[in-house]
Amino acid sequence: MVIDAQQVDALAAELDAMHPADIMKRAQQEYGAELAISFSGAEDVVLVDMASRTGLPFRVFTLDTARLHAQTYKFLDTVRERYGVPIEAYFPQPEGVQDLVRAKGYFSFFEDGHTECCGIRKVEPLRRALASVPAYVTGQRRDQSPGTRAAIPVVQVDTAFSTPGHTLVKFNPLANWSAGKVWQWIREHDVPYNPLHDVGFRSIGCEPCTRATNPGEHEREGRWWWEEATKRECGLHIINLGNE
Ligand code: ADX
Ligand code: SF4
Repeated sequence: MVIDAQQVDALAAELDAMHPADIMKRAQQEYGAELAISFSGAEDVVLVDMASRTGLPFRVFTLDTARLHAQTYKFLDTVRERYGVPIEAYFPQPEGVQDLVRAKGYFSFFEDGHTECCGIRKVEPLRRALASVPAYVTGQRRDQSPGTRAAIPVVQVDTAFSTPGHTLVKFNPLANWSAGKVWQWIREHDVPYNPLHDVGFRSIGCEPCTRATNPGEHEREGRWWWEEATKRECGLHIINLGNE
């Protein structure tokens, strides 16, 4: 099992030119049933598809912020049924949501930014989800955000969510893939996808903070569009901002 930063760097160099399906397989071989896919209910479904094709074990978790689109909830069930894997949903702590909503209402992020709400609804649950796993897999790609994701490696130590006694390894098997390649995989392998993609949504997160994009706009324009492009990371991938 790869556990320290030096080993992770060596593994990143080894895997960088590999096909995402082979990176996924290698991650599964390395970590077995403890490897967890962080699944948002969007086109990162290709990760679940690739993992299931290997025949090797894996887990899937999702952060249910309680603000997802109805289509996304239905899609999570579709994926559960199609691949026969439980989707481990992590919910925010009720007190955190309750305090925020009582103090500031349901849409405070439009006024004072998404950090507080994302912290309660996504980051704290992610910390719980990751506390017991040695390694996890995300669907991040370099082409998703020139401002924040241009340099993500295929595997890295997640310094934001590691603790002194727990080095957490983060795989980004799709890092080198374009959106086009992801969609080619979805079509060629008859992978189910979130129907929001058919109505102009290219990047999908919470319902109030996600919108369809126009042709010519970057997909990230569909997320937190009222904020500066370089701030559009919700805290899940805060290491991309280099200020963890
Ligand atoms: S976000 O940080 O801006 O919301 P994005 O939607 O681009 O992330 O997704 C990138 C990857 O982050 C996904 O492929 C997935 O691995 C992880 N991720 C994002 N949102 C969730 C979620 N709600 N639950 C689980 N994983 C998520
Ligand atoms: Fe809250 Fe929006 Fe962040 Fe979802 S994306 S947790 S609704 S600020």
